[in-house]
Amino acid sequence: KKFLVGFDVGGTKCAVILGAAGTDGELEFLERGVFPTAEFREPERCIEEMTRLADGMLARHELTNDRLHGLGVSCGGPLDSRAGVIQSPPNLPGWDEVPIVSMLENRFRRPVRLQNDANAGAVAEWKFGAGQGVESMAFLTFGTGLGAGLILNKRLYAGCCDLAGECGHIRLAPFGPAGFGKAGSFEGFCSGGGLAQLAAIRVREQLQRGIPVEWCPTAADLCAVTAKTVADAADGGDDLAIAIYRECGEWLGRGLAVLVDLLNPELIVIGSIFARSEALLRPAMEETLRGEALPAAVERCRIVPAQLGEKIGDYAALSLAMGEY
Ligand code: BGC
Ligand code: NA
Repeated sequence: KKFLVGFDVGGTKCAVILGAAGTDGELEFLERGVFPTAEFREPERCIEEMTRLADGMLARHELTNDRLHGLGVSCGGPLDSRAGVIQSPPNLPGWDEVPIVSMLENRFRRPVRLQNDANAGAVAEWKFGAGQGVESMAFLTFGTGLGAGLILNKRLYAGCCDLAGECGHIRLAPFGPAGFGKAGSFEGFCSGGGLAQLAAIRVREQLQRGIPVEWCPTAADLCAVTAKTVADAADGGDDLAIAIYRECGEWLGRGLAVLVDLLNPELIVIGSIFARSEALLRPAMEETLRGEALPAAVERCRIVPAQLGEKIGDYAALSLAMGEY
């Protein structure tokens, strides 16, 4: 068995996972710990806590560090995977140039691999989820933010400085919601933050016309509206909420068309919000994609929801710890 430790460092929470890979390549989850990232203002203290949790897990399983095959750290970009440095991700304020790999290697004396969360998610879906056996695929996070991981010719393609797949940054329209980046960007339309901003625009228009919005009675209620609020209303048959998701689906189709024309992948796997609300997004997504991308490339590209669900972050971090991607 290969024992593995994974760290999933997110803006909201940090998860520490102890796992093992069997000879058949299957992953076994042995223990998991989690704490809110904001509990520690300094990255050093946060990493100290991650280490403390991992030490406890290893001790409870009577494992010494030398039994570890490796460790993996999955984290939002930008980061430098070769230097092992987290650079200053928008979702981790205060994490500027943090040499997390050398910090963890000094502690555990075992190899530590760092990757962008979307890249790690792509490896996870490729090895354990919807992408098993394919040669080329793109994985899109479509969660709080939007990032992509690219598997090309059976290898992760990270680009010359780990910025490949930062498709959330691609501008699809001159104006529009911004997500965490630029107005009108792919992330602006297709992320949790972006969807909430798009909803705010459409809700305001409707309220100004004097049409009531049941799930957001006044503009002051907008601050509590999330992608989930809109999805619940849409699932309940609310026309405005359905239209907002349709609009989001259209932009998703436009963004996917860029990826399909550029990469000609056999598979695109989309996580989080798409996996949860596929029925609301897919019709408009497909129609737009067909109108925008080369028909032969669209024909050959399957688009499916991520399979690993809530566990994707754990799989992602452990996939990095395994190496071989
Ligand atoms: C970041 C990406 C990240 C994605 C998902 C984006 O805002 O730029 O690096 O992969 O969010 O967390
Ligand atoms: Na990426």
